[in-house]
Amino acid sequence: MNDSSKTPDVLGVVGAGLMGRGIAQIAAQGGIEVKLYDNRPGGGEEAREAIVAMLGKLAAKGKMTEADLAAASARLQVAATLNDLAPCTVVVEAIVENLDVKRELFTQLEAIVSEKCILATNTSSLSVTAIAAACKHSNRVAGFHFFSPVPLMKIVEIISGPLTDGWVADKLIQMAKAMGHTPVRASDTPGFIVNHAGRGYLTESLRILGESIAPYPEVDRILRQSAGFRMGPFELLDLTGLDVSQPVMESIYNQFYQEPRFRPSPLARLRQAAGLLGRKTKRGFYVYTEGQKQEIPAPAVPARNDMSVWLSANDAKAFPAVAELLGTLGIKRDQAERPGDKSICLVLPVGQDVTTVALAQGLDPERTVGLDPLFLNKQRTLMTNPKTSPAVRDAAHAMFHTEEVPVSVIHDSAGFVCQRVVATIVNIGCDIAQQSIATPEDIDKAVTLGLGYPKGPLAMGDALGAATVLKILDNLFDFYRDPRYRPSPWLKRRAMLGMSLLTPDS
Ligand code: NAI
Repeated sequence: MNDSSKTPDVLGVVGAGLMGRGIAQIAAQGGIEVKLYDNRPGGGEEAREAIVAMLGKLAAKGKMTEADLAAASARLQVAATLNDLAPCTVVVEAIVENLDVKRELFTQLEAIVSEKCILATNTSSLSVTAIAAACKHSNRVAGFHFFSPVPLMKIVEIISGPLTDGWVADKLIQMAKAMGHTPVRASDTPGFIVNHAGRGYLTESLRILGESIAPYPEVDRILRQSAGFRMGPFELLDLTGLDVSQPVMESIYNQFYQEPRFRPSPLARLRQAAGLLGRKTKRGFYVYTEGQKQEIPAPAVPARNDMSVWLSANDAKAFPAVAELLGTLGIKRDQAERPGDKSICLVLPVGQDVTTVALAQGLDPERTVGLDPLFLNKQRTLMTNPKTSPAVRDAAHAMFHTEEVPVSVIHDSAGFVCQRVVATIVNIGCDIAQQSIATPEDIDKAVTLGLGYPKGPLAMGDALGAATVLKILDNLFDFYRDPRYRPSPWLKRRAMLGMSLLTPDS
């Protein structure tokens, strides 16, 4: 057991770039002595000055007192050489993302710091264990993974590998809390929690685009408005840049030995090759003029043409909110047991496409449209099948559209847009829990704080109902015969047992 918690901490930060500066700033604000080292001549001092200027801005805005500013600034020292890090209790590196360079740095540090000093890496894509294995005392090596911009992204993943001692993560948790951040524990696996859990949103959206189900502005609108994501997936890809996102997608996919759940998209690779990287190249999925995204307006709403709408008695019973909506919108209902010759046949697929449901119910595909019954309140998604007549499509579009709750019309898709994207996110979150990479609670904390999703994947699954998510995935799997959609055992068992997805194993 290490007794370093009894002595005041001194944090060494190696690499005083974007991340190192952020880490040094919040540590100094949290009352921790910091020693900043950068191998670029003058780099340490430049960083110290930049941090003090940043703290000065916070003080000017009244976010910290002058006394706190002075105290935090005094806690920041520049280390002229690596040897100056000798008194540190923890050293975190935020240098170039290169395994050999990081291993070499830790080997050098081992000759300088005490045996009890923790050596932590801020790597986001390398194996903490591969870095640790180069060390004599690999038991004190862990990941301390912050997100950019560090002072605003209040989450840090604390990564233990098979060689890491238990006290090391405990100590880093304590330090993260002193820095005002929320720590989550994860085991050393590709992407840890946040970058692993984040695969679903982007890859499933790219798949939807690749299948020509809907154009990207429509997919963005649907996921923002119906499912409450802060940014649409294509807006997010433009912000991060495909030069960053595409290699991460490929790396996680390959590190998990071509796990189909993480399969990247040839479309994204093509766009990367074309240099359509996003905001940084002024053109990605969207065009940017003077930093502003050029909006692509939603298609016009057709004129209202009141046809009557038939909904099966089973669907009306299973989804009373849809039956009620028809009344609220003043839509004429065909109440007969079977649809009349001129009625629109409305179906409510869960994980299925309109073609499959129309044929299963013996409906005329030309007059059948689908409505997503699970995402109705802020935006509605209507879905056609290849035979739906344009007149039926346009009539349904006009009937279901209101100023407050607009409609998106998409091509046939097993599970519309929201159902399949949300189910994919939930499934990946469940599998992170199943693999004991992190606790259910930490998975949800990491994803809400690290990715800004409206809920963590497990709470998102609970909101839809574990059984519903399982049904969506089973139907997607049936339709595509693609193991990408195989449900995680975590989801399957909890759905069968009627338990919350946040329930740990007993
Ligand atoms: P950066 O390029 O802004 O800063 C790196 C700094 O390290 C530079 O000042 C450079 O002079 C210095 N440096 C390079 N090799 C060194 C060495 N051997 N010894 C001492 N100093 C050295 O890079 P950034 O963005 O701060 O990233 C640093 C690390 O943090 C990388 O491992 C990266 O993967 C990780 N990371 C980055 C995130 C981001 O959003 N930028 C997010 C999470 C982790």
